[in-house]
Amino acid sequence: MDVFDAIMARRDVRNEFSGEVIDDATLMRLLRAAHSAPSVGNTQPWDFIVVQDRGTLSEFAEHVATCRTDFAESLPDDRRDTFNPIVVQGIESSGTGVVVTYDPSRGGPHILGRHTVDETGHLSVALAIQNLWLAATAEGIGVGWVSFYHQDVVRELVGVPDGLDVVAWLCVGPVTELQRVPDLERFGWRDRRPLSDAVHRERFASLDVVGHANQAGPN
Ligand SMILES: Cc1cc2nc3c(=O)[nH]c(=O)nc-3n(C[C@H](O)[C@H](O)[C@H](O)COP(=O)(O)O)c2cc1C
Repeated sequence: MDVFDAIMARRDVRNEFSGEVIDDATLMRLLRAAHSAPSVGNTQPWDFIVVQDRGTLSEFAEHVATCRTDFAESLPDDRRDTFNPIVVQGIESSGTGVVVTYDPSRGGPHILGRHTVDETGHLSVALAIQNLWLAATAEGIGVGWVSFYHQDVVRELVGVPDGLDVVAWLCVGPVTELQRVPDLERFGWRDRRPLSDAVHRERFASLDVVGHANQAGPN
């Protein structure tokens, strides 16, 4: 698979995990792809905690279910009806969680490039995740990014040291297929914006100029 094929085929997976557990050699290839990402000041501020204990997966899934309920209850009726059928995690069915953390102290006090834009630390971790996600797609492995959690719960569950941020819980596992259309589009939550709305030339163009196609959802 070339890189464009992987970019286009990549999907956030919730429902399509096959129930098998990823083998360790494949998992390590994905983690090597993640660990090869660019990072601000070459700090490599990420760590990856591989979680395969059924009890831990089940405990985390219960916590996520609570966060899902809280979100559903915060929605106006029409959005809640759209949200209700959408699955937001495949924690147990994937068989493997990869918790990705960010360590702001990695690299010491003088981080080349982060002195002006502090977010570049977190952004570096996001690039590692995207590397893993694309490599997984090329390997026929699905990934689902779960952010319906409270950091302190994950910190406690998998022993993340103080001072590190929990950036993501990734569900990683073999899949039966990858959907062609993202779930949030298929279930009417929000469509992908046209590229022409996202591309600006010379200066940021107002919505009046680029159109309103990206305003499909109310929030
Ligand atoms: C930072 C981030 C957090 C996300 N958190 C969740 C989540 O908690 N639950 C979920 O079902 N999907 C989550 N997703 C997946 C998005 O919903 C998904 O990427 C988006 O709908 C586009 O679909 P696609 O990835 O299949 O193209 C997250 C994605 C990102 C990048």
